[in-house]
Amino acid sequence: MKDFNFYTPTRVVFGRESEEQVAQLVKNCGGSRVLVHYGGGSARKSGLLDKMVGLLNEAGIYTVELGGVVPNPELTMVRRGIELARAEKIDFILAVGGGSVIDSSKAIAYGVPYDGDVWDFWDGKAVPQSCLPIGAVLTIPAAGSEMSSSTVITNDEAGMLKRGINTDMIRCKFAIMNPERTFTLPPYQTAAGATDIMMHTMDRYFNAHQDMMLTDAIAEALLRTVKDCVIEVLEKPTDYRLRAQIMWASSLAHNDLTELGGEKDFTTHKIEHELSAMFGVTHGAGLAAMWPSYARYVMPRHVNRFVQFAVNVMGIACDYTDLEATALRGIEAMEEFYHKIGMPTSIPQLLGRPVTDEEIAEMVNKCSRGGKLAYGSLERIDAQAMTTIYKMANK
Ligand code: NZQ
Ligand code: ZN
Repeated sequence: MKDFNFYTPTRVVFGRESEEQVAQLVKNCGGSRVLVHYGGGSARKSGLLDKMVGLLNEAGIYTVELGGVVPNPELTMVRRGIELARAEKIDFILAVGGGSVIDSSKAIAYGVPYDGDVWDFWDGKAVPQSCLPIGAVLTIPAAGSEMSSSTVITNDEAGMLKRGINTDMIRCKFAIMNPERTFTLPPYQTAAGATDIMMHTMDRYFNAHQDMMLTDAIAEALLRTVKDCVIEVLEKPTDYRLRAQIMWASSLAHNDLTELGGEKDFTTHKIEHELSAMFGVTHGAGLAAMWPSYARYVMPRHVNRFVQFAVNVMGIACDYTDLEATALRGIEAMEEFYHKIGMPTSIPQLLGRPVTDEEIAEMVNKCSRGGKLAYGSLERIDAQAMTTIYKMANK
């Protein structure tokens, strides 16, 4: 078990009517001039946005609204937000939405106090030294950005480059989570969100260190819970109990809890980000399309870990005479689960067509930064391995 340093400073305000506390939470963070950032319209339609603005204004807090964040949020919007926040002397950003809105808010928060080009942070030319404080009112459990240290932005000015950076300072000061707010999610977003939640834990569970008994048990419980609840919630979208389990799992899957004592891998995430950047697909669906191929590629060298996953998460009976068959059965069971919830398990299922060899080469080139970078703690995945995995997923 590796030594670790666990820091998860986000205040979680969870439950029915939790959003009533928004003004006090903002005030506690010293916010008096708030940029309320949101997406394409779901928060406006549900009345949540107006409610948040109303509560803030009633408490004497000045607000400016900026909507229109797209899934896989873009740099152009971040620049607009920075300009607006500076002009309005904003001192707090409230994200009302999902991972895309929270990440766009985080990027604006980094950009406001920075004199240079905000993309420098994702380009590796500068490291953030400060940021505005932000809070989130979560409407979709998926990305886990409400408690994570990550900010994933797509540079739409430079050929749709999707990149992430991590710092502790950017973590949300608070996350308001009312499971009732997720009742309106379309089935595809519910399923893609659950897939992403599970992958945040799987990208940590499949790692080089295998003596983290408690962390493994937490991870396995989280995976089983989300797997069971999402199947049921697709039938019963307004079931509070089910929505609540999934929403809480979203945060726990990506606040680093399920990597303690190990070393996160995140290869599936890295290779998926190229798909969602290039083709604008939903991140969670892209993960489902890539993981089975990644898993089949690495499994023969990590049979025991995949057996543990098959037995403890997917409920497969262990065949002690053929451990590799048990491991493979676990991957197949995961694919069956993805299909059951309407997720793709290959690139053609995701996009409606296979990608070309040139598109694979472009994704590999971007992901590996021209062959210079490799990813993964379970196993290093370099440009050559990435090409193999994309090709396996392209069948
Ligand atoms: O834009 P609106 O109209 O709000 O619609 C959204 C959007 O179309 C809709 N939606 C959200 N809440 C809803 C709702 N529709 C009905 N009812 C509601 N209550 O759902 C769609 C998807 O929203 P989005 O915010 O894009 O989803 P998600 O949370 O999956 O975020 C995806 C982004 O987060 C990044 C992904 O790469 C992607 O860019 N990630 C961020 C991470 C982080 N910062 O820690 C980690 C993740 O691995 C991920 O990479
Ligand atoms: Zn993810």
